[in-house]
Amino acid sequence: MSTTLRIAPSILSADFSRLGEEVRAIEAAGADLVHFDVMDNHYVPNLTIGPLVCEAIRPHVSIPIDVHLMVEPVDALIPLFAKAGANIITFHPEASRHVDRTLQLIRDHGCKAGIVLNPATPLACLDHVMDRLDIVLLMSVNPGFGGQKFIPTTLDKLRATHARIAAHTAAGGQPIWLEVDGGVKTDNIAAIVAAGADTCVAGSAVFGAPDADGGYRQVMSALRQAACPTESQT
Ligand code: DX5
Ligand code: ZN
Repeated sequence: MSTTLRIAPSILSADFSRLGEEVRAIEAAGADLVHFDVMDNHYVPNLTIGPLVCEAIRPHVSIPIDVHLMVEPVDALIPLFAKAGANIITFHPEASRHVDRTLQLIRDHGCKAGIVLNPATPLACLDHVMDRLDIVLLMSVNPGFGGQKFIPTTLDKLRATHARIAAHTAAGGQPIWLEVDGGVKTDNIAAIVAAGADTCVAGSAVFGAPDADGGYRQVMSALRQAACPTESQT
């Protein structure tokens, strides 16, 4: 189990008419990252936000912006997001013709790099690129929409991914974060963290809270408390 849990609220479920205020509120409420879902109506059947919006929210927060690209093709957007202030960029290997090159491109632009595995994407996608990864993101729903239900078989996949990462670091490799995205709630986060996740995206769980005035902080404390009861009692 991890000792530090990062919570990354997904702004997909935020109020887009007040986005600056919303990201300030989640940082003030203790968020570790801003999770930024980019959808192109091509790789996934939905259309969201791009580099201009990333640039617009950047001055409102000091925490890292975690850009999850659900787009195809990938590479042309990387310099744009790096310039717009992204700190982490992840993409789906199915959407890139040259996964190794895309990973290098992200790091060359000064960002942490990662790949995202859909529920049916095999872990073999991690073979041969472990040394290029700063993060692995496991989808626990099919990408495209917030508010879906967590797919329980993700827990086995998490354990297997955690074991791969542990073997890599034990052999002298760099640290790799293990992030989970989709359907994370207070009633399943303990199992998710116990299975090896150190970073949890939470969209509807956080932004579905009644209001920014204490509501976001309460949900995030509840998530931390449920995940690691002994660490979050102070
Ligand atoms: C789905 C997105 C997720 C999603 C998470 O394609 O990548 O980040 O917004 O939202 P919840 O937590 O509501 O499942
Ligand atoms: Zn996401």
